[in-house]
Amino acid sequence: MAKSKSKFVCQNCGYVSPKYLGRCPNCGSWNQMVEEIERVESPKATPSRRTSDLETKAVRLNDVAFEKEQRVKTDLSELNRVLGGGIVPGSLILIGGDPGIGKSTLLLQVSGQLQKSGGKVLYVSGEESASQIKMRADRLDISGDDLFIYPQTDMSYIRQTIDEIKPDYLVIDSVQTMDEPEISSAVGSVSQIREVTAELMNIAKQQNITVFVVGHVTKGGAIAGPKILEHMVDTVLYFEGDTHHSYRILRSVKNRFGSTNEIGIFEMQTKGLSEVDNPSEIFLEERLKDTNGSAVVVSMEGTRPILVEIQSLITPTIFGNAKRTATGLDHNRVSVIMAVLEKRGNLMLQNQDAYLKSTGGVKLDEPAIDLALAMSIASSYKDLGISATDCFVGEVGLTGEIRRVNRIDQRVNEAEKLGFKRIFVPKNNLGDWVKDQNIQIIGVTTVSEAMNKVF
Ligand code: TYD
Ligand code: MG
Repeated sequence: MAKSKSKFVCQNCGYVSPKYLGRCPNCGSWNQMVEEIERVESPKATPSRRTSDLETKAVRLNDVAFEKEQRVKTDLSELNRVLGGGIVPGSLILIGGDPGIGKSTLLLQVSGQLQKSGGKVLYVSGEESASQIKMRADRLDISGDDLFIYPQTDMSYIRQTIDEIKPDYLVIDSVQTMDEPEISSAVGSVSQIREVTAELMNIAKQQNITVFVVGHVTKGGAIAGPKILEHMVDTVLYFEGDTHHSYRILRSVKNRFGSTNEIGIFEMQTKGLSEVDNPSEIFLEERLKDTNGSAVVVSMEGTRPILVEIQSLITPTIFGNAKRTATGLDHNRVSVIMAVLEKRGNLMLQNQDAYLKSTGGVKLDEPAIDLALAMSIASSYKDLGISATDCFVGEVGLTGEIRRVNRIDQRVNEAEKLGFKRIFVPKNNLGDWVKDQNIQIIGVTTVSEAMNKVF
């Protein structure tokens, strides 16, 4: 006999409580507890037992039959890179991102390419009608017999259709709109999302279908974000960018089949997303040559070095407390660097407003950007320009020392490739690579030494 039981689930983090709470004790968010009715069935196969008929014996590592995983390459090499070299068949890939960023566009383009190279694709959309998708497909020049569009939200119909069509690839746009009829709670609630994802995982693994799932990230929390799904899926990609800019960054934050923190860069054009082969050139494209408050850093994004400009504007505070704002940079990092410059570099910054920004909407968060950050601030404060062919790499410590960074050889090569003449690096890194470059490599040990050499 099925009984029903009610529980309150936090839509933000998934915390479950037997009674209503105004504030979630787990994540601290307010008004996120939503009542969900759970049907308690007499004991049957629990999720952990569902797979128990598979081989469960322990095997010696050496005896495991090894098949080199096959990867399917899409035409978008940026996507291949982010996935760790291509799509692993039977994997479940979650793509998160703000509304309007281009998730549906990306997946429709990928679907088009996959069916062109011989795969059968089922594109399930709970958000758009078939004719809307057709309109978009026309715009993107996508056509083909093996691309099936299916506007549907009911998982039981979707399962049936999968059995009929037997696709190689399944796209679910989006997980928040899918409805598992056996679950009584509202579409988009945590329980629904969790169950739908578990079901998709089953489909992926049992039928060896690669599944792409779109997940919306919302601020208000009316629909649960894909955060709770991240541990369930194989790969999590975030599609980021500023809707005001045309550049989009696809970032891998979890990947069972490749390295994380790899990024792919795309540009949204009138005919869909196109790849950006040389991001550094684009990020530096609009840079003014003779100006102050601008320093170029060679930052590693995943395994790839990217040159980005860090801009500063330091102006005397007219009224009240000094203001500090940072776009694309960590606010705390900026405060620390300013304090170091004040104390170790003798720059009087406490009564100055500081506005900082990384250009092109790139988020810079590795320690190796510190030196460029410091030089950019110093340049604006001193009203002295930095040569347009100089660039910087190095972490700054609290005593003003420049600390060693990783992958220095790749960074130097990239700077050289883009025509930079001098690169300032931590002195400790100097022994790390084979010299003989067309770029002058200058080792520095402290911020004041760097400032003396630059200005
Ligand atoms: P979309 O893929 O619908 O975003 P999401 O699925 O993440 O919500 O992308 C919508 C935006 O992309 C929309 O503002 C229009 C723009 N766009 C283009 O600029 N060019 C194109 O060819 C397409 C299809 C969309
Ligand atoms: Mg969409």
